[in-house]
Amino acid sequence: MENKRSSFTGKLGFVLAAAGSAVGLGNIWRFPYLAAKYGGGMFLLTYIVLAVTFGFTLMVAEISLGRKTQLSAISAFSKLDKRFSFLGYLASIVPVIILPYYSVIGGWVTKYLYVFASGGMQDAVKDDYFTNFISTPAEPVGWFLIFMALTAIIVLLGVEKGVEKVSKVMMPVLVVLTLFVAIYAMFMPGAMEGVKYYLTPDFSKFSATTVLAAMGQVFYSMSVMMAIMIAYGSFLDDSSNIARDGIIIAFSDLAVSLLSGIVMFTTMYGTGLQDMLATKSGPGLAFGVYPTAIVNLSKSGVFNAIFAFVFYFCLCTLAIDSAFSLVEGISTAFSDKFGTDKKKTTITLCVIAGVISLVYTTGAGLAVLDIVDNWCNSFTLILIGVLETIAIGWFFKTSKVVKEINRNSKKFKMPRVWFDIAVKFVAPVSLTVLFVWNIIDLFKNKGGIYGAADGYNLTSNILAGWLVFALCLVRGFVIPRFKGKNKQTETEETWED
Ligand code: TRP
Repeated sequence: MENKRSSFTGKLGFVLAAAGSAVGLGNIWRFPYLAAKYGGGMFLLTYIVLAVTFGFTLMVAEISLGRKTQLSAISAFSKLDKRFSFLGYLASIVPVIILPYYSVIGGWVTKYLYVFASGGMQDAVKDDYFTNFISTPAEPVGWFLIFMALTAIIVLLGVEKGVEKVSKVMMPVLVVLTLFVAIYAMFMPGAMEGVKYYLTPDFSKFSATTVLAAMGQVFYSMSVMMAIMIAYGSFLDDSSNIARDGIIIAFSDLAVSLLSGIVMFTTMYGTGLQDMLATKSGPGLAFGVYPTAIVNLSKSGVFNAIFAFVFYFCLCTLAIDSAFSLVEGISTAFSDKFGTDKKKTTITLCVIAGVISLVYTTGAGLAVLDIVDNWCNSFTLILIGVLETIAIGWFFKTSKVVKEINRNSKKFKMPRVWFDIAVKFVAPVSLTVLFVWNIIDLFKNKGGIYGAADGYNLTSNILAGWLVFALCLVRGFVIPRFKGKNKQTETEETWED
């Protein structure tokens, strides 16, 4: 790798960049619809517990692997233990899977932002507006291209300037806006019913499905199990405090999700649309329901229009920030490993994502998107979780990982016992159970947790899902054969000081 690795300037640079990656559509689009789908309070409670335990612990572990090796995932894993280099490949396929559909959704957001900015809000609330929009291929493709181009431009500006400038300005603004929206929405008549539904766990709704959905969402939202946090960690220098930064990143991610849950449930109940939570819960929920809720928000059309604009502006910048991180993560991993030119890699990547994204803009696009998204989170991320925790827990010496996490931390130190128990035992065992259970359920219930109930049959579910796995195989076996110049010097032991 290059001798001089670009690094984050200033203490806040890393935190903002990593939080910018974590906080995204996953928090505002995915989290609330899952909460609606899997029983409000019960999902919320499960999610919080898993985020604080699994999510936080594994996120700081990944960051520390990156900092220690100063390498991105593929090279980091092979440097720590050659036998696990496949894991780096496996993990770095995930952003490749996510990027195309994430950008398609980013395109939808951009479209809505444009509609709201140009005063067409009333049109957007008509019942089949969203359905009509996504079933006319040309339009979503156009908006996708705009979104992708914006993302590519930001990436090409470079990590030091790009990441920091975008995140620094946007993150605090977004948090304040969402907070405002959440508080405002609480004062709507009936909104408190929504808050109650959201905050009161109904234990009869607890099931393996809830745990699986929440676990996948924790990984997805925190951008772990997908090479990203390792890459971010690799930009850190020795003086950074991973334990403290990890807490800030994990909690801001959690906070934005919780806030958008409140926004979702209060506005839905406050505008009498709570039935839509059940009937329309799916990837389209945020698009079908939010605008309708916003139009009914207050009697003042002007206020509603401004509100809508601000809200979608918020969503759009969050989406770009995350998409930016996806592109950055993939191109860093690739150019690090093969010594390819970063600029060319980025452009090629955006073009490939563009081609793949065409699948999501066909007639059955939304269903394919839903299946791929859920397959990625409920199978791929969980499987990587199993393998990664085994690797870290049993092959990388947990004492050294913990030491790396706690290195500069004075106030909060990750307890060694906690880390050992979590990473060696609890995580691999429970993730394996979830993974196996999901496969059994896939066949037993003809489609698993995202099967029959959502109207997808087993065949299409498996076909779209296998596409994801096929991509993993391509990444794992074909790309390593790519004859690039590997600029790295591999050394055997990296955990020694
Ligand atoms: N965490 C992002 C979100 O919540 C989505 C995401 C998943 C992501 N994987 C990523 C973002 C990798 C950047 C990099 O929206």
